Order: sequence, then C-alpha cells, then structure tokens
Amino acid sequence: MSFHKDFTWGAATASYQIEGAWNEDGKGLSVWDACAHTPGKIWEGHTGDRACDHYHRWPEDIALMKALGLKAYRFSLSWPRIIPTGEGAVNPAGLAFYDRLIDGLLEAGIEPWATLFHWDYPMDLFCRGGWLNPRSPDWFADYARVVVDHFSDRVSNWMTLNEPQCFIGLSLDLGMHAPGLKLPTAEVLSAGHHALLAHGRAVAILRERAKKPPTIGWAPVGVITMPKDENNPADVEAARQQMFSVSVVDWCKFWNNTLWGDPVVFGHYPEDAYSFYGKAMPRHSDAEMKTISAPIDFYGANIYNGVTYHAGPDGTPVKASGDEDGFPHSLFFWKRKEKSLYWGPRYLQERYKLPIVITENGVSCHDWVDLDGHVDDPQRIDFTRRYLRELRRAVADGVDVRGYFHWSLMDNFEWQEGYKQRLGLIHVDYGTLKRTPKKSYSWYRDVIATNGKSL
Ligand code: GCO
Repeated sequence: MSFHKDFTWGAATASYQIEGAWNEDGKGLSVWDACAHTPGKIWEGHTGDRACDHYHRWPEDIALMKALGLKAYRFSLSWPRIIPTGEGAVNPAGLAFYDRLIDGLLEAGIEPWATLFHWDYPMDLFCRGGWLNPRSPDWFADYARVVVDHFSDRVSNWMTLNEPQCFIGLSLDLGMHAPGLKLPTAEVLSAGHHALLAHGRAVAILRERAKKPPTIGWAPVGVITMPKDENNPADVEAARQQMFSVSVVDWCKFWNNTLWGDPVVFGHYPEDAYSFYGKAMPRHSDAEMKTISAPIDFYGANIYNGVTYHAGPDGTPVKASGDEDGFPHSLFFWKRKEKSLYWGPRYLQERYKLPIVITENGVSCHDWVDLDGHVDDPQRIDFTRRYLRELRRAVADGVDVRGYFHWSLMDNFEWQEGYKQRLGLIHVDYGTLKRTPKKSYSWYRDVIATNGKSL
C-alpha cells in the first residue's frame, strides 16, 4: 500500500512570514509588526516589513508552485490586513489581495488551503486584552464570518488556528514570541480557553455559511513520542502515554497535545490537566465545551521531530538515552527523528479517530546560492525522504493520512530567528528578492509526480 491516488501533496507558508507590505493598502498592525519593531526582539533586528514581498510577487510564486506540480498550497490570511483594527471595518484592498492569490491558485490548478490565524494578531485587539478578553472569541467569529462569506465560494479546505501551543504558550507564558508576555498560569490558560472557543466558533461559521462544502481542520503542534523498541508493546504503550500527558515537556507547560486536542475533539480538558495546573484551570460551562468541540473533518499536525521513550520496570515512560550526543540536527538544532512521521500520525489517529493531514514538516539548513547559481541542499532531500518514507509506512499500516504540506514553499521570516533559518524548497535572496528553486524543489517535484513512488 502506498499513498492514496488523491493524496494531497502541498507546501505551506504563513502571511507574516512571507507577505511583507506591512503597512500598505490599509493593513493594520499586528503583534508581530510591533514585536519586530522592538529592538532586541528578533535576531539581528530583522523584521517582516518586506519579507519575501509575496504581496507583490505572488504571480511569480504561483508560477513556481505550478512548475513544482503542487496540488495544494497552505497559506494564512492576515487578520489585520482584512480587518485593520481587528473588529469592525473591513479593508477591501486586503480582501482583494487574497482574491488575486486564490484566483491565481485556482487558475494554476492548485487547491487553496487557508489558515484563518497564523499568529499575526491585530494590535488594536491586543491592546484591549487580546486572547485574555472574554470577547476575543466574538472578535474571531466576526473575522471568520467576513472571510467565509467572501472566499468560501472558491476555498473549501480550511484550518482555524495554527499552533495554539506557540501563540499562547511561547507568546504569553515564555515571552519568546509576540506579544512577548510572561503571564501567570491562570491567565495563560484563560487565554488558551478563549482561543479554543474562537476555534469552535469559526468551525460553526464555516459549517453554516460556507458556499462550497468545507473540509475543516486545524494545525496544532505538540510533542511527538516514539517507542524505543517498536516491537515491544510495553514501549509502544509507554510512548503513547507520554505523548498524551500534559506534563510531556519540561521547558513549556503548554507544549502538549491534550490540553488543546482533547477539548477540540472530546469536548473536555484532559483529566491530568486538573492535577497539573490545579486551580489555574479555567472555569467553563458545558455549552462552551460544546462550542469548542464542534466536529472537524481532519486533525492537522505540524511535525518536525520527536522524542524516544521506553517502558520503565513499572511500565511508566522513561526517556531513552544514547542518541543525544552528536545526533543529526537542523540549523535550528532540532534533531532529525524521521520516525516521528510514523508514530505521530498513528498515535494521533488512534486517539482522535480523525483523518490526519501533515500540515507542516521540514528542516532548516545552511543553504546558499553557489557560484554556478544553484542551491544544493542534500540534507533537506535526505531529511524529507526519510520522513516521507515513514509517513508512507504509516499509510501502509492503515493510518488514514490525507495530505502532506512541506514547510516551507520558500525561505521566509522565521519569527524570532528572523532570516537566519532557511526552510524553503525555494531560496530567497532577501537583498534582491530573487527566487532560486533549490535541488530539493526538483526532488519534491518528482515525489509529487510519482505520488511518492520515487521515495
Ligand atoms: C511553527 C510555524 C511555522 C514555522 C515552522 C518552522 O511551527 O513555528 O507554524 O510558522 O515557521 O514551524 O519553525
């Protein structure tokens, strides 16, 4: 068994990371504009002011997607480009930009997959409390309504939120990402609860108002665990137990799967959240949980790496040692753990019983244009080949994986890392904005053309 003939081969980006045009045509400010303009926040003072200038160069970018044979393109809509102050007046020029993009994609035979929110939160709403404000789900619902009414005649694949673990955890607890706060746990959890409500409200709006029957999911991240001995059921169980525990990661209290996934799919917070966060857990009504758990069609997963566990003497998970020193890693120092693309989808599907879409996977490398004008990136090819073979194995073992989106289509603004990290299939020279397809681009084109047989 291999990939289904309708398997969705895609690549992904996000608005703030590629668009640029940060203050053009009536766009409002986002928390990322504000953060990037604050000295000391981003590596070498980089900003997304111009980024890849995709706002103006989208025709060239679509032509490159078409030549790649991409079946689908995952992008995000900038909330403050569409509603500059986050609530109220709509910016026609913002809608018009996405009209051009979506129409261009459709003309090129590429299916648009739209993410409603990939972190560029409207600054005006942040000044009114942002996700902490109990009205924030209403603001998001109003925004979702504008988007759905305008684009759902042409877009049918939707993702609500990208990685609440980041825009709540890294942003409001650790202060690493915009808006850079370090709030008490109860406030972080309350903001997270509102974000989950926003997700549920958007799902309902899509379901009720979309003009084309929608396929709805979301794109969380989280820790992926893998059993040390795949043939030992005790290890398989231990890794699973670890993956679905809220205390899975020690450096961020919110970087887990279940605090987010369980409410969305099961309509309740996981039991161990109550012991782990204690009294800081948000109070909520049954009606809210019903809103949050509005049925979705697929479970998205952004997967880059994983951690190996085995069963201790009493069966409890123990982190495996031995593969830490000198282990292959990306420029981000994320370890190359290809089995995460087998166990991640498998565990997630076993728990949540939804089709899986890999909404992100990729690697940051030291890429540059060589003297002959080429970008040779053998490590990205090898990385992706290993990961996709594991994904194929998951499919062969019966995991219902519907699609794979490589992160990223092109090099782009990597949040607090600025332009240091290059994850694209296409190289971008940030001085000239010249695009150069890397060797991995041609390699991925063959993967798509052969539906994975060339792996
Ligand atoms: C994330 C985001 C992407 C990143 C990518 C590489 O996971 O942080 O969804 O915007 O660029 O994951 O870090």
